[in-house]
Amino acid sequence: MQNAECRSRVNQGGGRRAEGGDQPGAENGGQRPENGGRAADFRPPGCGLRPPAWAHLADELADRLSRESVIRRNEPLAKHTTLRVGGPAEVYVEPAGERDLALVLRFCRQHELPFLVIGRGSNLLVKDGGFPGVVISLAQPQFTRIEIAGQRLHCGAGARLKRVAVEARRHGLAGLEFLEGIPGSVGGALRMNAGAMGGATFDVVESVRLMDYSGAVRECKVGELAVEYRSCPMLKTHIALSAVWVGWADLPEGIGQRMNQFSRKRWNSQPAARSAGCIFKNPDSIPAGRLIDELGLKGTRVGGALVSAEHGNFIVTDDAASARDVLDLIDLVRGRVRAERGIELKIEVEIVGQ
Ligand code: EPU
Repeated sequence: MQNAECRSRVNQGGGRRAEGGDQPGAENGGQRPENGGRAADFRPPGCGLRPPAWAHLADELADRLSRESVIRRNEPLAKHTTLRVGGPAEVYVEPAGERDLALVLRFCRQHELPFLVIGRGSNLLVKDGGFPGVVISLAQPQFTRIEIAGQRLHCGAGARLKRVAVEARRHGLAGLEFLEGIPGSVGGALRMNAGAMGGATFDVVESVRLMDYSGAVRECKVGELAVEYRSCPMLKTHIALSAVWVGWADLPEGIGQRMNQFSRKRWNSQPAARSAGCIFKNPDSIPAGRLIDELGLKGTRVGGALVSAEHGNFIVTDDAASARDVLDLIDLVRGRVRAERGIELKIEVEIVGQ
């Protein structure tokens, strides 16, 4: 077994072994993945495999990581998402740096544990049963740095997009103003090719530093990556560690004015209540928000989830909301859109967990 020092690291909050971690409920939820290292693909419950002993695994992982890494059991994921719904992660890790991140990935592979990398959780819907695996957050300082070199910004995957926009403005670098109101992180923006106000992430990113699921690191020029509307497929099988963004020289005042303009436009058309941004991708024929609006679905409620009255492509949540409410509301909207317009809305937010 682990020493007391290690146990206190896993528990963080109380310096005691995590409570309730391997209770029957959690054990039943701990389905094993069919193949190592995949965040999806779990075996169905009751398939006869012994579920992992999470507390023991968390202790073992803590032993391998440097002291600067954070590791917790049963971490509520609702507080790591902007929708504020969803259950806990069996194990939650903030690796101190690339070496520890690689160790976590290899540990997951070795033990066939599902894992999931989260950013600021602004495009994420975690189901109420939580995530039966290891959730990795690049929130430690090694991953949140922003450094300026000439017209380039070197940004860690955990850096907030708002900070990237503000730093660009401060250094008189234009072109990144659209990032101002996107509530995500650099890593999330890369994975989703996030965009707003006519700008998109890969329009202004020059290169990306990536880690594959075995822990190997490489740098990719943007030309080497396939990039699509709201997606960079390579980042479904690799983890973005950092990116180089390129701006062009302009006066900070002009940049600031454009940021204010975008901000005003956003406040006028999007809800301030908690949400995951746009829920659906825009179909080619019509923006999803307008479509939902035209069908009179704004204000439709399921439990604590509501189609925003301000923008039809936003679902907002209140304190009573569950992930189930949000999922049921998504189904309801998709069903109506399918029935009345024959359009199959594709979900933009990432849905994880059980
Ligand atoms: N519209 C309506 N009713 C509504 C919402 C929109 O009629 O309830 C109309 C608008 O008047 C406009 C059109 O639909 O004519 C498009 O709306 P908007 O300008 O708000 O843009 P969007 O396509 O709905 C996209 C991004 C947003 C981004 C905005 C602003 C997607 C799926 N969404 O929204 O990104 O903030 O542009 O540039 O591409 C996100 O991805 O999470 C997100 C919020």
